[in-house]
Amino acid sequence: MSDFTGRTIVLGVGGGIAAYKACEVARLFVKGGGAVRVAMTEAATRFVGPLTFQALTGAAPLTDVLDAAQDRTYGHLELGRAADLLVVAPATADLIARLRMGLANDAVTTVALACDCPVLLAPAMNTRMWANPAVRDNVAMLEKRGWHVVGPSSGALADGDIGPGRLADPEEIAAAAARLLGPRDLTGRKVVVTAGPTREPIDPVRFISNPSSGKMGFAVAKVAARRGARVVLVSGPVELHDPPKVKVVRVGTAEEMAAAVEEEANDLDLFVAAAAVSDYRPRDSVSQKKKKGDEDEALVLTRTPDILAGVGKRHSGRAGAPVIVGFAAETEGLLENAKKKLQAKKCDLVVANKVGRPGAGFSGDRNRVVLVGPGERANVEGTKEEVAEAILDWAVELLDSRRPR
Ligand code: PMT
Repeated sequence: MSDFTGRTIVLGVGGGIAAYKACEVARLFVKGGGAVRVAMTEAATRFVGPLTFQALTGAAPLTDVLDAAQDRTYGHLELGRAADLLVVAPATADLIARLRMGLANDAVTTVALACDCPVLLAPAMNTRMWANPAVRDNVAMLEKRGWHVVGPSSGALADGDIGPGRLADPEEIAAAAARLLGPRDLTGRKVVVTAGPTREPIDPVRFISNPSSGKMGFAVAKVAARRGARVVLVSGPVELHDPPKVKVVRVGTAEEMAAAVEEEANDLDLFVAAAAVSDYRPRDSVSQKKKKGDEDEALVLTRTPDILAGVGKRHSGRAGAPVIVGFAAETEGLLENAKKKLQAKKCDLVVANKVGRPGAGFSGDRNRVVLVGPGERANVEGTKEEVAEAILDWAVELLDSRRPR
């Protein structure tokens, strides 16, 4: 049986005869230790009563996003944020079409739009419908967007036809879900992550900062939590929601970030410094807005605390020391500078990325990095969550060898 401990799975149930099998899917997730929330289309409630899912999961399903009582209690946004995985089973032809179009005209399609987790589709329909080009095109488009599909399986269908169209077996759906959720190899570990820019005030209305959106650091925190870690995310000013199951400490300046990391640094197993911390701050920030004159202005800058180097220095060389992962944002000499940082900041791994060009570094949803360790390196390109998975795969290997569980 698959292990879903600590995972939140949202099960979207479509209105087909196979809806009764979604009860078994829900039961398998609960039996595997998962927290299950259910969203149902109106048609699905005609096949299986919401009370059945409430009894199986301990939570009333979301069946109507326009019902204030439901939306206040669970709400499509709350489900969307909490979900580690969305499973749509059965996914009928109509529901697949509406998911493909990005509609939000029922509880399942609305939750799907609010999710930014992996999605597993389990189609179920008559064989002839499954073969229809419109359905094939809808499924292909969802797969192109990164959704995963399990089934349908072949066999005798409720209407007497024989062929592909049966909902995949609940055990097969549960196994596919477990594969998508990935390992829980950071269970019991404390991970501290820094993210985002810092803001160094010049005066009450002006500051020095940079274009970091926080996405890279938030992705590391989110994936680490999904892999079972206790995560503290120290973030500069960004426009991102707190990742689920992550303690977020929001700061402004490098000094505030350093203090927040210091607060958490005693018992950490893994430190990932993804933040774009300002190296300098104005030496003399003033309490009133500077009046502009006609003359040039000089700004004396002074160094900020080097947070990564501080954590490295505190732990380096100790037996069983935590794993320390630094980043390197470079415009040139990527590898050379990454290797220098590896030494200078006493890191176990440096994630080097070229900044200042599209497709990598600041602000985008994707990154292109070189992971540089003492004797090896690896090129990784993908979404920032995929890059985060690769960073954590490397870190877990070091952790398990240095601090066996
Ligand atoms: O936030 P996004 O928009 O997703 O962009 C992601 C990113 C480009 C910010 C990220 O991938 C990245 O490269 N982060 C590090 C940016 C940076 O400050 O790199 P650096 O080479 O200047 O610093 C080297 C390392 O020292 C970094 O781990 C940094 O967090 C750390 N540092 C730097 C200065 C300082 N005072 N304290 C630090 O801890």
